[in-house]
Amino acid sequence: LRRLTVPAIQQRKADGKTAEPLVMLTAYTARQAQLLDPHCDMLLVGDSLGQVIYGLPSTVPVSLEMMCAHGAAVVRGSYHSVVIVDMPFGSYEASPQQAFESAARILKETGCAAVKLEGGEAMAETIAFLTQRGIPVCAHVGLTPQAVNTLGGYGARGRSDAEAAKILSDGKAVTEAGAFAVVVEGVIEPIAIALTEALAIPTIGIGASAQCDGQVLVAEDMLGMFERVPRFVKRYADMAGLISETAAAYAAEVRARSFPGTEQTYQPKK
Ligand code: KIV
Ligand code: NA
Repeated sequence: LRRLTVPAIQQRKADGKTAEPLVMLTAYTARQAQLLDPHCDMLLVGDSLGQVIYGLPSTVPVSLEMMCAHGAAVVRGSYHSVVIVDMPFGSYEASPQQAFESAARILKETGCAAVKLEGGEAMAETIAFLTQRGIPVCAHVGLTPQAVNTLGGYGARGRSDAEAAKILSDGKAVTEAGAFAVVVEGVIEPIAIALTEALAIPTIGIGASAQCDGQVLVAEDMLGMFERVPRFVKRYADMAGLISETAAAYAAEVRARSFPGTEQTYQPKK
């Protein structure tokens, strides 16, 4: 089995409306990647790992070192999906040159196939610079969490005519710049649909629309690892409950001295 490629992902859009939607989930560790990989087309090593595994207040403090370490783990744990690694805040915005250096380091250290960065028109020149130099780029428009300090929060985007027009022009700009796909996050559904119809590259929705060309969720969110999740998350399991019950069962057996039992202990050979 060969790993899917970036052109194969793009081809899905070219195949038209009948094409199967693209499936993407985040993964941060090798074992998580092993488990999710057979079910996905793309695995995203999202900078959401800042909050999800490091307990940070936002994605802003996430470093290139963190992304490289987790990106390498996810590539090692997968063989089927296209692995995309998020460029962290501060590693690409200053110039196309800065972005190239950071992205090249990500590709070299992780073995991933592509990077993702946040921004539309403002990042078009950078997206073209990377794409023309052998680095496929997935763009990310609408709610862009790295801009939390200028956006002022994580509310849905596109409610005003001006915001809606900006999302559409951002999508067109990243397409023209050569992005192979675009994540559309926290955008009111009619605008997500309009964007999907307008663009020649796949739109990957999160808090957007089932009419997007694909969907992404943070794996821990859809697995039910958190009590509080955004409206756009559907919890398909209750992993938090399962882990709590399992830890409680272990703790009770330790306290009762019933673990380890004879099956888990070594005895002298007779
Ligand atoms: O960091 C992340 O997990 C993401 C997805 C939610 C799109 O960017
Ligand atoms: Na991200």
